[in-house]
Amino acid sequence: MDLLGTLRGILAAGELLTGEACEPYLVDHRRLYRGRALAVALPRSVEAVARVLAACDAARVGVVPHGGNTGYCGGATPDESGTQLVLALKYLNRIRGVDAANYSLTAEAGCLLERVQEAAAGAGRYFPLSLGSQGSCQIGGNLSTNAGGVHVLRYGMMRDLVLGLEVVLADGRVLNGLTALRKDNTGYDIRGLFLGAEGTLGVITAATLKLFPQIESTATAFAAVADPRAAVALLARLRAASGDTISSFELVPRLALELTTAHIPGITDPLGTPHPWYVLCELGSARAAEPLEALLTEALGAALEAGLVRDAVLARSGRERAALWKIRETIPEAQRHEGPGLKHDISVPVSALPEFVERGAGWIAAHVPQARLIAYGHVGDGNLHFNLQGRAGADGAALLARADEVRRALHDLAVSLGGSFSAEHGIGRLKVAELERYAPATELALMHAVKRALDPHGIMNPGKVLRSG
Ligand code: MLT
Ligand code: ZN
Repeated sequence: MDLLGTLRGILAAGELLTGEACEPYLVDHRRLYRGRALAVALPRSVEAVARVLAACDAARVGVVPHGGNTGYCGGATPDESGTQLVLALKYLNRIRGVDAANYSLTAEAGCLLERVQEAAAGAGRYFPLSLGSQGSCQIGGNLSTNAGGVHVLRYGMMRDLVLGLEVVLADGRVLNGLTALRKDNTGYDIRGLFLGAEGTLGVITAATLKLFPQIESTATAFAAVADPRAAVALLARLRAASGDTISSFELVPRLALELTTAHIPGITDPLGTPHPWYVLCELGSARAAEPLEALLTEALGAALEAGLVRDAVLARSGRERAALWKIRETIPEAQRHEGPGLKHDISVPVSALPEFVERGAGWIAAHVPQARLIAYGHVGDGNLHFNLQGRAGADGAALLARADEVRRALHDLAVSLGGSFSAEHGIGRLKVAELERYAPATELALMHAVKRALDPHGIMNPGKVLRSG
């Protein structure tokens, strides 16, 4: 029997799409890639995933795991051959259980991130991963790409939030590693291999995640600073002054504020006069009576006196807090409205961030004068989205044509400062050559060895993360 016939025997009607029905699964979020597919499988059980993978392995057919399709590097899009099977996890979407006493929750891969957050809150607990796309991204994708977001400073990345994993291997075996243990020193961290592997080693079907005490009080401020150097100095002060209750510290350049006020309805400048840079910072505590606002006001006041902060406003209500966050969260959308641009996702040690921005901005001014720099994001993690935006009326195609040259300069600079060319967006298809260029040779060889060991026939998300063949 051919593979499609075998798959029809495994999956119920409606769980196998072919032809036109595959369309929504063939283009990535940024529209960088348009693939074709043999079919799209939408299994509803781990057993069905296992049988689908065993059949594909036997037939040597590539499988492309697909979550909420919000990734930035094309990791969930099939290639152009039309021979690969897309495996969408969206129907594998149960919360299997919440253990409030253990501060843990078990969710299937297709659960929306927001649903996981809600399930935790329903049990009086907090799941801290927080991203702009949380209403559409799936936890399986968050795990497979080791997602970051706006709370990494306090809680770490997705990898840091995992206790156990259930994974279907390329040959259909199920690795049941769904432990809920915080201590388990039993050999190699096999489960850890699948986090950030972008579906190239197996398919994550469920995870047991760490929960935290529910956040009962927050204090949020939008502060103007002269430059990223002042932002980094302010972060160090606030960490100490707040007893490390700081959960977000995000950089917003003036241009980002201008683009959001221009393109996103309802956004206004929270401060009276313009400033070159801003930070959005938030403190959070599980204690309802914690005087966080007073603490933040005092710390920002001292920073103002010391010349680190130029002006600041505190959110006085949930509505004001949401308005401040909306500025930060709609920057990518505002950029899309403004026109074509070049995106980079770099990280360096926080201490090296000011030098990165100074030298990176200098290089852009000298070499790509038609572009405007819009460097924003997770300063607290040393991670900036160091993007270039065309000037109004400028030729967008001409800017895009410079992509390779700009990428090389900025990635070389990040790496020379001890940084990474992919802080939180992963490798996917987009950055395979970058990984080959920057990963230490020994590490790359080990990655290939792991790939061969777990996926000897090369069926798992071929051509993503590592070049296939
Ligand atoms: C963000 O932090 O907003 C995203 O990771 C990057 C982006 O959407 O450009
Ligand atoms: Zn980000």
